[in-house]
Amino acid sequence: MTRSGSVEPARLTIYDVARHAGVSSSTVSRVLAGRGTVSEATRQRVLGVARELGYRPNHVARSLARQDSDAVAVLLPDIANPFFPSLVKALQDEAQHRGYTVILGSTGDDPDNERRYLDTMLSRQVRHVFVVGLSLPKAEVEEYARAGLTFIGLDRGVAGGNGYLVQSDNRAGAKLATRHLIELGHRRIAHIAGPPGISVSRERRRGFLEAMAEAGLPVDERLIVTSPFTEEGGAAAFVELAGRSPGYTAIFSANDLIAIGALFAAHESGLSVPEDFSLVGFDDVSLTRYTSPQLTTVRQDVARMARAGVQFIQADRPAPRRRTVTLPVSLEVRQSTTSPTGRHHERP
Ligand code: RIB
Repeated sequence: MTRSGSVEPARLTIYDVARHAGVSSSTVSRVLAGRGTVSEATRQRVLGVARELGYRPNHVARSLARQDSDAVAVLLPDIANPFFPSLVKALQDEAQHRGYTVILGSTGDDPDNERRYLDTMLSRQVRHVFVVGLSLPKAEVEEYARAGLTFIGLDRGVAGGNGYLVQSDNRAGAKLATRHLIELGHRRIAHIAGPPGISVSRERRRGFLEAMAEAGLPVDERLIVTSPFTEEGGAAAFVELAGRSPGYTAIFSANDLIAIGALFAAHESGLSVPEDFSLVGFDDVSLTRYTSPQLTTVRQDVARMARAGVQFIQADRPAPRRRTVTLPVSLEVRQSTTSPTGRHHERP
């Protein structure tokens, strides 16, 4: 750093040029690589700022610009949720088997973190990015796509991407879970839905409502609450439901962590599963086989999701006909569901 506080030319990056020019770093990447669509005014402004600052692009990176990296990136919203590491492991196994190196980033659903990772991928010639949704505005995603990134959505779509998406049939999975409870004899079923802004939450809620309607069962809106996809959220949602009257005899949770949080909160309240109420989750993370009782849940086939995702990036094969692949799910019936026992958590 010089005395004036400016950055040594040798240490300048495209972020510095972008900040001074008032454009995104992906625009700077495009201008310097002479790729993509940029207005002449913007191009001249970026080049002028780069000259004034004394920015010298990394010629090694530029010389590699003509070669796509054999690395692929995968960006996750929450590395702490065991569903995502299981998906990344399956993706890594599949991608490495085909000669790709996988670069992992956990963004916390923060758009600035997403920009940082995507800019780095651009500057490192990584061309394929697997994403579980993105928080970035559609226009910015489209700008990254124009700059050369190919987005493959896993589990959740991404607005402005290239349209590639591999997802589970979330709506069918929610219907399997709800029908299972109805077939056991439950009539008053609560639903702890996932975060409302996420596609899988909407699809699972829709499947729950459709299964209830198909069985001719009224849905009490007071028995539908929302929660983050976390154990803490599930515990808080359980407490919120406990205050609702009349109560319920079963809960369908939008993912396993919510169900595990609800199970903990039930135990803390002196209630037992399935004696006081039945409980179903979604994902089938390995934890569900170690809870007491073992959790009945909907299994997502992450290995198959990874295989389908990698097929979208294999240049040596014709691209799959459809850009969206929806995979079947299955119900794993375990110990947390049973018929209503009369002891059920139901208030008059
Ligand atoms: O558990 C995290 C949830 O987010 C999963 O259900 C998965 O589908 C992802 O969307």
